[in-house]
Amino acid sequence: MIKILTVSSANMDFVMDTPKIPAAGESIICNGGYRYIPGGKGANSAVAVARLGGESLFCTSVGRDANGNALLDLYNNEGIDTRFIYRANDAPTGLAAIMVEGNGQNRIMVFPGANRKITTEAIDLAIEEKPEALFMQLETSVETVLYAAKSASEAGIPIVIDAGPADPEFPLEQLPELEIFSPNETETEIFTGIAPTDEKSCELAVEKLKERVKAKHFCIKLGGKGCYVDGKTVPSFKVEAVDTTAAGDTFTAALTLEYLRDRDIFKAARFACAAAAIVVSKRGASSSIPHRAQVDSFIAENRS
Ligand code: RIB
Repeated sequence: MIKILTVSSANMDFVMDTPKIPAAGESIICNGGYRYIPGGKGANSAVAVARLGGESLFCTSVGRDANGNALLDLYNNEGIDTRFIYRANDAPTGLAAIMVEGNGQNRIMVFPGANRKITTEAIDLAIEEKPEALFMQLETSVETVLYAAKSASEAGIPIVIDAGPADPEFPLEQLPELEIFSPNETETEIFTGIAPTDEKSCELAVEKLKERVKAKHFCIKLGGKGCYVDGKTVPSFKVEAVDTTAAGDTFTAALTLEYLRDRDIFKAARFACAAAAIVVSKRGASSSIPHRAQVDSFIAENRS
């Protein structure tokens, strides 16, 4: 089994479906009810690795509260290695407030809480397990990302970074050489000033990214259009979008897992597009992430 270490965030998501985004000063009624669903970019990816057939090690931090207990229960049920999860005494579990519109698009606000408490000791112990890749997003602290990247690089472990959420101040130049760097459309624009709307703008954006990040592969996630990887567009699968939450997290985790099998980035991108298409056709974060057999059948049913 391919072993992937995710050093990243864990949140409880508070989700409401909304007929529209309220304007300043406006109150609107959302009749669709509300849900608490385990989420967090890192947790979604760690769950995806486990469900897609990888060995998933997760290094994060949650509070000593009911949400922290619920998240840990989920990770243990998924077979994720939770030995590197720190329980913070002085911060609550991260919380994300998510509005989902009728077209499946979401708007997310995150209170990081315990996500800022990941310890260097836990990272060191997890790196000693010699994972085949270190996977991270930017939803923890800058110090955590840079420390884990440096440790993995010194240990010769390939590093994959999903650039969400993009902070324009993040010092990308300080990262060691990466295996894969994968921003979505918004993150690409924040880091480069270029909106990746077609192949030409994707190419220009990657050139700009290369001035700041050293990586073997650059993969821009393009939502329903698929992704742009190493100079080519890999198209997505057509599905009806119900909720895009966790699609990017699942995409990059699936990309990483498949890439590590035989280093074929295009085959891996196709698999990742399929996994993400399944995610957008269901509601919620961890609740929408497919198992490997579902992705394999989806690809077989949608072969063109
Ligand atoms: O990418 C989706 C995730 O972003 C949500 O699950 C939420 O917790 C935020 O971290």
